[in-house]
Amino acid sequence: MDWGMKNRLAQLIQPDGRALFLPIDHGYFQGPTHKLEEPGKTVRPLLPYADAIMLTRGVLRSCIDPANTKPVILRVSGGTSMARKDELDREGVTTSVKEAIRLNASAVSVSIFIGAPNEHQTLLNLSNLVNECEEYGIPVMAVTAVGAELEKREARYLALCCRVAAELGARVVKTYYCEEGFERVVRGCPVPVVIAGGPKVESELEVFEFVYDGIQKGAIGVNLGRNIWQHDYPVAMIRAIRAIIHENATPREAHDLFNEVKSAGEK
Ligand code: R5P
Repeated sequence: MDWGMKNRLAQLIQPDGRALFLPIDHGYFQGPTHKLEEPGKTVRPLLPYADAIMLTRGVLRSCIDPANTKPVILRVSGGTSMARKDELDREGVTTSVKEAIRLNASAVSVSIFIGAPNEHQTLLNLSNLVNECEEYGIPVMAVTAVGAELEKREARYLALCCRVAAELGARVVKTYYCEEGFERVVRGCPVPVVIAGGPKVESELEVFEFVYDGIQKGAIGVNLGRNIWQHDYPVAMIRAIRAIIHENATPREAHDLFNEVKSAGEK
């Protein structure tokens, strides 16, 4: 592996082998998502606790201070919107590798939609991007997306998606957590796996439990958005999740930290 690729991966995956990526890319097809109406404001207090942020070029340019030194994972696929929900899988590559380099991205991310009508196109998006990015030492993170079909989040399907993504050359794969058989998802994927959170769940403890369990079963961390920044206490959430990832805190310990930060009034 070339020095540039190694160096970019080292910016993202910390010396303990773990990673906390904070995605704020949801607007690329959802528009002004709840609590992400002003992405710059939402993310500012959270940045110190994230290892990297994931976002589109538009939000990066207009909402993030260029003095920011947190590594950037640039979302480079899209071309769909919630106005055509049944076509969410019809993505193309929206941003050039030259642009990713100009924006000093540490990685790029692209969605794949396995089992959807446009599966083939999205897998070629990934493969072509890997071909180009490898030339410049830029890691590609594959986002295994389910569109509106959240019920697809089960081990057999997720294992298929992760393995295909890795076989096509993704350096990191983002997938969903599942209670049954998540260890099989990770075992079948030869590159690091990070967990997305999905739509906001009822209780914070539930989030701490799935992040903890996912890590015990081999994930290196998270790429988790809504369950952090849609919460009423986002700083408490990210600090608690960070403790699970980087300090091996249990869900109970993470919950205690969450309550501590919350009572200190830090939103
Ligand atoms: C979807 O919009 C993006 O790929 C997100 O980055 C990904 O789903 C992770 O965010 P969340 O934890 O909110 O699902």
